[in-house]
Amino acid sequence: MNDSIRSQFPSLKRIVNGRPIVHLDGPAGTQVPQSVIDAISSVYSNSNANTHGQFATSMETDELINHTRNQMATFLGAESGNNISFGANMTSLNFVLANAIARSLQPGDEILITQLDHEANRGPWLQQRKHGIVVREVLLDEDGSLDYADFEKKINEKTRVIAMGLASNILGTVNEFDRVRQMAYEAGALLIVDAVHFAPHLLTDAKMIDCDFLLCSAYKFYGPHVGILYSRHGALDRLDTDRLRTQEQHAPYRIERGTLNHAALAVFHPQFPSLNHSVKAPPNASESSMQWASFKHMNAAWPNNFISDYVI
Ligand SMILES: Cc1ncc(COP(=O)(O)O)c(C=O)c1O
Repeated sequence: MNDSIRSQFPSLKRIVNGRPIVHLDGPAGTQVPQSVIDAISSVYSNSNANTHGQFATSMETDELINHTRNQMATFLGAESGNNISFGANMTSLNFVLANAIARSLQPGDEILITQLDHEANRGPWLQQRKHGIVVREVLLDEDGSLDYADFEKKINEKTRVIAMGLASNILGTVNEFDRVRQMAYEAGALLIVDAVHFAPHLLTDAKMIDCDFLLCSAYKFYGPHVGILYSRHGALDRLDTDRLRTQEQHAPYRIERGTLNHAALAVFHPQFPSLNHSVKAPPNASESSMQWASFKHMNAAWPNNFISDYVI
């Protein structure tokens, strides 16, 4: 990592046992740059208020959340901020999602998960066995990839949900989601994808992936601990989520509960200080390449432009 980038991450200045700290625990998340720390602190210093009030700080909070939804929509290739919901983390959002989807299922209906997935995309589905739902698991091959023949074998006319990761946080395997999407179409099943490990590394375009729901987590891409859910237009409104009758009932709010972490959501806001270096095009990438698309995508979502320098 070059010094100008390194210097923007205060946590990298720590000395442990007399030596500069090295963070090797990738799946535990990324460190955050000073601009993220400043953005969080700025909310508490300037506009710490809840939503929907007719006074300046509350209106700023509304504006901030709307803006962040739109930024995340760009980042994830969604149509608009109405497709984006927030939660404490990916796991919490996925539990609410799984319970809501399961309410529309009958005993004997089937859910397909995979052995390669993080427990956050297994546990919420596995617990539906308590309600008579059959949960099947796609096997893992010895080379760390999913067994697609097993996938095909385990999908049938009773399959209502396919929950799979786009990439594995343990092995780095990138799954063939095109193949699985086709199988989901044919079975008429909902496709739910865990993009937590995928989104920081590769272009994540929910419309292109053509899933019904997609989940990711901002602490994997230099942000704070915030879970993000993309829902296909209309998909969330069909679900009976656990929610208060006093909250807004429609998407994207339908799955959000209580007060959001406004300070954490502020890090995507353009008014906050940017990292101090210029946008660079990806080296050796042609304009039509996936890498270039990813670069443009991320820069649109992160006005401070820092992410492109780290990811590419
Ligand atoms: C692939 C994958 N999915 C889901 C999660 C859970 O995300 P969260 O910590 O936001 O609940 C993780 C966390 O490491 C992960 O790596």
